[in-house]
Amino acid sequence: MTAVTSLAAKLARPELLNLTPYQSARRIGGEGEIWINANESPFNNSDVAQLNRYPECQPPQLIQAYSDYSGVDSQSIVTSRGADEAIELLIRTFCIPGQDSIACFGPTYGMYAISAQTYNVGVNALALDDNYQLPANIDSQVADAKLVFICNPNNPTGTVIALETIESVVKQLPNAIVIVDEAYIEFCPQYSAASLVNQYDNVVVLRTLSKAFALAGARCGFMLANIDIVDLVMRVIAPYPVPKPVADLATAALSRQGIDQMQTQVSQLKGNGEALAQALRNYGAEVLPANGNFVLAKFANIAAVKQQLITAGVVARTYNDARLTNWIRFSFSDEQQTQTLIQLFQ
Ligand SMILES: Cc1ncc(COP(=O)(O)O)c(C=O)c1O
Repeated sequence: MTAVTSLAAKLARPELLNLTPYQSARRIGGEGEIWINANESPFNNSDVAQLNRYPECQPPQLIQAYSDYSGVDSQSIVTSRGADEAIELLIRTFCIPGQDSIACFGPTYGMYAISAQTYNVGVNALALDDNYQLPANIDSQVADAKLVFICNPNNPTGTVIALETIESVVKQLPNAIVIVDEAYIEFCPQYSAASLVNQYDNVVVLRTLSKAFALAGARCGFMLANIDIVDLVMRVIAPYPVPKPVADLATAALSRQGIDQMQTQVSQLKGNGEALAQALRNYGAEVLPANGNFVLAKFANIAAVKQQLITAGVVARTYNDARLTNWIRFSFSDEQQTQTLIQLFQ
């Protein structure tokens, strides 16, 4: 039986402590020329090397590439099918259905609550304050939630929370795991909490290649966490979460050239986004500071604006949530589409 010494082990679902993960053929490994241990086909009918073989559970080159990019030790990185799978894995690793809960601060990304609900885990849906910051007395508000999700920059508001504030929350909640979702961090890297992963045993950072790296269709995300959390999550994760072609694409995206391309595109998108935000302000909308690749704007004449967008064939994000009924979120786009939008608001 695993000794319950780490915070991660104390918080984990107890049955996981004794669980031996599925021993896939790839995990067991071996040496030799003739590989007949996984009921694979010997024929590779594709241009992708080794596509007839099961992939590594955690492709080492991809993990190393993300370690180089993020500055986080490779042992502290788990790759998954997007950040969405990482959210689900954390809930499945730590929350006992029908008993435990998570906390999050709305308006925010909807998958924290949905993922929890699909596992019959409670949701303590707290509110960001009027300046889109975390509430005061966070420890009493979070109560006994095991996982506390902070989206930074926050989707859909685009607002940010200072790193010092996040660090103080981490200190105030020593018996919970604070998960900082940094899906949009490439648009404001100075706010990253990645440096906290090595310092605290209760911090997890989520990342993705879906946004700045332009690979939403590939489904590749990362969890950065201390090794005790990683060890437990690895007991729950699917045997082959990252398909081989995805691992290859993602590793290439994290090469020097790939990162340069990402950074060039990020600055282009930020320029286009600032021009759009200015046009929205000129139009009379209330526009929140945009720290991701989108801008949230509030309109007095929301029905007319929605109709105008539909007529122009623009699909932007509208909301049913009571706090956001008059708001529309616009993702930043290329030069041409940005100009079309700007003209629409002139
Ligand atoms: C804040 C946030 N986290 C996570 C995700 C999901 O990312 P992925 O595509 O890596 O699953 C999104 C997607 O919109 C998001 O906005």
